[in-house]
Amino acid sequence: MGNRENWGTRAGFVLAAIGSAVGLGNIWRFPGVAYENGGGAFFLPYLIALLTAGIPLLILEFTIGHKYRGSAPLSLARMRKGFEPLGWWQVAVSFVISTYYAVIVAWAISYAWFAVGQKWGDNPQDFLLGEYLQVVDAGKIGSLVPNVLIPLALVWLVALVILFKGVRKGIEIANRIFIPTLVVVFLIIVIRAITLEGAIDGLNAFFKPDWKALTNGSVWVAAYSQIFFSLSIGFAIMITYSSYLSRKTDLTNNAFIVGFANSSFELLAGIGVFAALGFMAAQQGVGVHEVVSKGVILAFAVFPQIINEFPGLNGFFGVLFFLSLVLAGITSLISITETYVSAVQEKFKIARWKAVAFGGGLAALISILFATQGGLNFLDSVDYFINSYGVAFAGLVEVILVVWVARELKNLQSHADGVSDMRLGLWWRVCLSVVTPVILGYMLIQSIITDITESYSGYPVIFNVYSGWLVAGAAIILGFVFTYIKKWDPKHLEIPDDDKGGSN
Ligand code: ALA
Repeated sequence: MGNRENWGTRAGFVLAAIGSAVGLGNIWRFPGVAYENGGGAFFLPYLIALLTAGIPLLILEFTIGHKYRGSAPLSLARMRKGFEPLGWWQVAVSFVISTYYAVIVAWAISYAWFAVGQKWGDNPQDFLLGEYLQVVDAGKIGSLVPNVLIPLALVWLVALVILFKGVRKGIEIANRIFIPTLVVVFLIIVIRAITLEGAIDGLNAFFKPDWKALTNGSVWVAAYSQIFFSLSIGFAIMITYSSYLSRKTDLTNNAFIVGFANSSFELLAGIGVFAALGFMAAQQGVGVHEVVSKGVILAFAVFPQIINEFPGLNGFFGVLFFLSLVLAGITSLISITETYVSAVQEKFKIARWKAVAFGGGLAALISILFATQGGLNFLDSVDYFINSYGVAFAGLVEVILVVWVARELKNLQSHADGVSDMRLGLWWRVCLSVVTPVILGYMLIQSIITDITESYSGYPVIFNVYSGWLVAGAAIILGFVFTYIKKWDPKHLEIPDDDKGGSN
């Protein structure tokens, strides 16, 4: 195990972790979530969620990966043998997420092409659901949509080639190119958006605080779940990425840098999106609340409409917007896929290229399901359930096992303190042992109550059962299957004492 790959530089690791965190969640999810949950007042729960759960968990995951030097299943097995199923569960959650995440990146590629000459026409919503995705009723699969299949093949090709090349020559170099490009492209869009007529009304709508919202539990739940998805915590990614750090590095500082960079990007996205929405509302002579939306419709129906109404260089700004989605999405997709590539590679002792071909290839094949006419409905349901009962639930089990069962917090603290400039204090242990489990536990109970009393998104119950509940449940079962399918060679479970002297 002495030949484990390392990041070339500290900046390379930080950029890759930021690349993982900054993704579709920042651009298309955050602005709508913030607006719906109290606007300006949402920043308080959001900041509290970042400081009490986001950054503490990021430090925890960085420290686990760095101390135990393995993929999530191996790192957790090295901590306590019985924890391995948690690692595989998180890896399975990542596998599921990658299958639909790639499809959204594929849509963004199509839309970057459609933006030239605004091929989506005068009614982008009809174009999206009709001509482009050819959506059918929930539960029906329909036929394959070639317009999605072709860019989807391209997305997987790019992601898998980068992963084939390895950590330093593939992932690190890709992030060094994609992330600075993304920042430049996104800044151009935001600067243009805030100088549009009506932008100020959009920003007022976004920032105007509704303080009453803070008394509503669901606003707090929204803040914590946004932080989880957005920071890529709870789904094996950050453990995997930090396992490639050399022994001499700084964990705590890195976590603060990644956490604040991700939130800054999120805030920037909120400003850009709402400035643009303010412009569109002004063009149509309506209030901002009438044009606001989130997720798929915001990115692929409302934004094309905004591009249609732009005062000039419509195609140019359209291409830039969808290019930013592609860049943010592909760097996150690479990190999500790396979790199972590294886990399979280690457990089954196979070459990296085989793990990429097998794991990535299988994910690519399954993702074809989302490139059918029924794909959008499946995607919506899988995304919702795997986030509620995959990411957040696995995050809860992770803190309970590490903090309360293994009682590892003090050991991990001394490990992090041993390599970091900034020392962790009591606040870190309190956040992880009390605040995070209480809030995640509350979130889980709330979600269960809501989801058994009402069918998510109004879909037929049976549809949510097999595309939501069963998928999330299968990830847990796979956690056990992959643990017991093959035993580790005992030598594997020793923490390797490699790369002394290296630093990043
Ligand atoms: N953290 C990634 C995102 O926000 C998964 O999309």
